[in-house]
Amino acid sequence: NIEVFPSRDQLVERAKAIILDKIAPAIEARGRFTLVLAGGGTPKPLYEALATENLPLDKIHIFWGDERYVAPDHPDSNEGMARLAWLDCVAFPADNIHPMPTAGNDPLADSRQYEAELQRFFQVSPGEFPAFDVILLGMGDDAHTASLFPHTEALQVRDRLIAVGNKAGQPRLTFTVPLINQAECVLFLVTGANKQPALTQVFAETADEMAYPSRAIQPQGELWWLFDEAAGQVLTVN
Ligand code: 6PG
Repeated sequence: NIEVFPSRDQLVERAKAIILDKIAPAIEARGRFTLVLAGGGTPKPLYEALATENLPLDKIHIFWGDERYVAPDHPDSNEGMARLAWLDCVAFPADNIHPMPTAGNDPLADSRQYEAELQRFFQVSPGEFPAFDVILLGMGDDAHTASLFPHTEALQVRDRLIAVGNKAGQPRLTFTVPLINQAECVLFLVTGANKQPALTQVFAETADEMAYPSRAIQPQGELWWLFDEAAGQVLTVN
């Protein structure tokens, strides 16, 4: 599903509607709704919009698809951004928020700790990939998504849930491609004309996943791409 919106506000409203529609059916089927948050700047207004909704918070579990390797009170923290925009403004039970551990000084050990936490939560064995209900993703102007950057090792990991990403030497924790692709629904939010060159490649038949990581995201469930006109122009022209 590809949809282009004249404004970011309309994109945010649509993203919220897609998410809200999936909460009750997930709770009906599995007793809970699992939502994976993206970082960066685009999703913040979506989190602010979700904070105004009256949601069954006791049945909603929040995870992160990637995290800069900084403390939650650091300005770069994806956890910190989501807490300020939404999670700490409403009455989520503390146990329903599952941040990526970044307090150690060993990203690999912390990636294994988060992987073990997911395996326990979903009751899956090593090698099994749990299916999250909705995974939110952004896309960088280099076509990275989560913290899967072009030509990095994390992009090739197929036997783990969580890997250590690397952005210009800075460690990141990230969901792996197979974990993202197990989702019931993946929702990309992409805004800004600076994303056009990457989008052209991501939607081209011949481009390489190692160079354009978002191409690797082919979930077994639904795949939504929501663009503002600045970003999505490149697709409507073709
Ligand atoms: C992060 C994000 C990252 C983000 C893209 C797009 O930790 O930075 O998870 O993958 O989604 O960089 O960022 P914008 O949405 O701010 O353009």
